[in-house]
Amino acid sequence: MRVFQGGKRLPLRSRITGTGSYAPENVLTNFDLEKKVDTSDEWITERTGIKERRIARDTETTSDLCLEASKKALQAAHLKPGEIELIIVATMSGDMPMPSTASLLQKKLHAKNAAAFDLNAACSGFLYGLSVADNFIKGGTFRKILLVGAEVMSKFIDWQDRSTCVLFGDGAGAVILEKTTGQRGILSTRLFSDGNLWDFICLPGGGSQYPPSSKTLKNKLHFIKMKGNETFKIAVRTLEKLVVDTLRKNNIKLSELAMLIPHQANLRIIKATAERLNLPMSKVAVNLERYGNTSSASIPIALDEVVRKGRIKKNDYVLLEAFGAGLTWASALIRW
Ligand code: ACO
Repeated sequence: MRVFQGGKRLPLRSRITGTGSYAPENVLTNFDLEKKVDTSDEWITERTGIKERRIARDTETTSDLCLEASKKALQAAHLKPGEIELIIVATMSGDMPMPSTASLLQKKLHAKNAAAFDLNAACSGFLYGLSVADNFIKGGTFRKILLVGAEVMSKFIDWQDRSTCVLFGDGAGAVILEKTTGQRGILSTRLFSDGNLWDFICLPGGGSQYPPSSKTLKNKLHFIKMKGNETFKIAVRTLEKLVVDTLRKNNIKLSELAMLIPHQANLRIIKATAERLNLPMSKVAVNLERYGNTSSASIPIALDEVVRKGRIKKNDYVLLEAFGAGLTWASALIRW
């Protein structure tokens, strides 16, 4: 690795050297949902842009999805599991409260030299994880990190609640981050939260506030609740400002941006953000019509797709942004 160029020390960075993704085989279409709840393909398509989502089998867990995505990312980075020094899994739907899904993934992957922990920032989880991994690498603690965003949302959804069950899907996306020097890599990450609005999106049951009991089951507290419309309005306003501020702080013009990879919650949020920014949709990665909202998995799945399709090239500026429960929001600017 070159550390100096022209007598000057090159900046130490982390760089994504491999990506991978996985989604369960089982596809649930809007037409399938029409048979379960009072909804229609027309409503779901118009209000969200989603056409279908993937649903894990009863026996399939979040760490199983992580494993498949991680194997592909390792292969793309030409690394063996034993070379990984840290595994971070961003998830709000892990296999169990304890141990972490990252520890279960470490076992399944035979990544015997890796430390492991989970991180929960809901839909912003992957970008929070990217920031943590980037800082661990820049600080010199680890050189090779596996970061996965993975969710089995389908097991935390009330399949009788039409306002939430049409939105979410299951999947996993993984990246390998490695130490590098030079201009390419993660240029900046920005993290935000407003806990005052915690009840906009929450899953209240099963923790220390409402431990599992027959009452929490009866009151359906183990399912996701969302104030969709209120969340929608704040998301659009916040994401526009987030993108503008991230570019400004890094002295990058919007016209220099090769690709925006937004969290895939709702096509209307994505289009409204692009419109407010004056960014053509050809520069925005969209795949939610096939996966729905996979929370922390949505950005790494979309990233893996654009990488494998060759839609981003060496030295391109790529901006990732997310908004979700917490409330939390986050961005990352990458020079690919
Ligand atoms: N089918 C048919 N009708 C429905 C459905 C459905 N599946 N769901 C709701 N409706 C009805 C409502 O009952 C309501 O009827 P009413 O006017 O008679 O009361 C009407 O449709 C409009 O409901 P709204 O909730 O106002 O619909 P909206 O246009 O806001 O769309 C949606 C709802 C899709 C949830 C949208 O608000 C949204 O995407 N919100 C943001 C979600 C988000 O970004 N979340 C953050 C990430 S998630 C995380 O962190 C885990």
